[in-house]
Amino acid sequence: MHDELIQKLQKTLGNPGILTVPADMAPYCEDWRGLYRGRAAAVLRPATTEQVADAVRLCAEHNVAVVPQGGNTGMVGGTAITGDGSQIVVNLSRLNRIRTIDPIDMTLEVEAGVTLKAAQDAVETAGCLLPLSISSEGTAQIGGVLAVNAGGNNTVKYGNARDLLLGLEVVLPDGQIWNGLRRLRKDNTGYCLRQLFAGSEGTLGIITAAVMKLAPRPRQIEAAMCAVESPQAALDLFRKFQHHDPDAILAFEYMSGEGLDLVIEHIPGASLPLGARAPGYVLVELGVVRTSGDLRAELELILSEAFEAGLVSDAVIAESGQQRASLWKLREEHSEAQKREGASVKNDVSVPVSAVPELLRRASESCERLVPGIRVMPFGHIGDGNIHFNLLQPKEMQASDFLARDREIMSAVNEVVQSLHGSFSAEHGVGCLKTPLMRHWRGGPELEIMHRLKRALDPQGLLNPKKVLPS
Ligand code: MLT
Ligand code: ZN
Repeated sequence: MHDELIQKLQKTLGNPGILTVPADMAPYCEDWRGLYRGRAAAVLRPATTEQVADAVRLCAEHNVAVVPQGGNTGMVGGTAITGDGSQIVVNLSRLNRIRTIDPIDMTLEVEAGVTLKAAQDAVETAGCLLPLSISSEGTAQIGGVLAVNAGGNNTVKYGNARDLLLGLEVVLPDGQIWNGLRRLRKDNTGYCLRQLFAGSEGTLGIITAAVMKLAPRPRQIEAAMCAVESPQAALDLFRKFQHHDPDAILAFEYMSGEGLDLVIEHIPGASLPLGARAPGYVLVELGVVRTSGDLRAELELILSEAFEAGLVSDAVIAESGQQRASLWKLREEHSEAQKREGASVKNDVSVPVSAVPELLRRASESCERLVPGIRVMPFGHIGDGNIHFNLLQPKEMQASDFLARDREIMSAVNEVVQSLHGSFSAEHGVGCLKTPLMRHWRGGPELEIMHRLKRALDPQGLLNPKKVLPS
């Protein structure tokens, strides 16, 4: 039966559209973190929405499961192949056209396989801003970014991916195409379906194109890296910036001293931009559209007040776009540096912003009690309450022994997160890694509604099986 399906897919998609040789399929069958490696019957690379629809319909007719995939940069196995070798990967990379950029409507219509960076660059050329930025933006694709409702560095100012979403085009599990590519700011016409697909991690439909909201480009931008004594000092500094002008804060990121040490050790060209090592650092970026007023002077004023108040012990302000990029590199290479250092357990968690210092203190204590010598490496988006509470293996421990305790470690962190009314997944999604947690965190009517939606849209259960919902 599979042979017949593969032949039909070959006919539908043509030569570059289907891979069946294991060596060719290998890069699509393993995740970035190396946690999941699977076997697929084929990897499809359709070039149009119609081809995606035809392929999905054929798979549904043959009762074969489909795993949608974008840039494959996810952290929770959201595009992992979970079956016995019969599943088919639908990779969206060849749907890579920017359809329209409209600087009056301030919208971008873009296909799913365009990388976030390519979309940002195209929009910038048109004089606008696509205000979504994540560390993996050079590889992550728009479809995946929307499917997981990515957050990233600018959530504090512009919200998450779904907040920028005006319209969607989706291939449904039976192969129908839903064209909801509207670009309206107001449209109260029944259930908001685009928001159902955003964040559904490819379990309800495959996003093939989207209309996204653009923002005006800030005409003044300043960035500074500050040395802070503690997470509490970082939070107090955030409040100071908020008090001055909350709308000017584009990003407010936290890094631990240990985390930055690893970046400097493992990432070529990375160096400490400050006089001395500190227990923690804040990377703050301000931006305003207005040309009046001097943003640099405002930043200097806030920082000098912060020095006097003892919140900051040292700071450097970027003098050029290049220096700004170097400061960002120190933050964005955290995941890569941690990967090079050894095995890590990642906790992408969120709490109310005011509770971040307590989260870091209590979760660190719990993990250190649980695994003596564990290296606590928290970093992330303190301005919106999302911390990547990552933990590295003790130096003298085997990676496999450490990873064998991942559930225990995640539970210890999540216990603190729950007591602070937070979430066990802030921006990375549930994938298959965190599916077992859903019953505890989202049980009762909430999970029941999710199961009913899944059954209604995908009665055969063929789209991205074993993701998000516990079976
Ligand atoms: C980041 O903010 O750099 C990412 O979400 C990556 C991570 O959690 O490791
Ligand atoms: Zn992040």
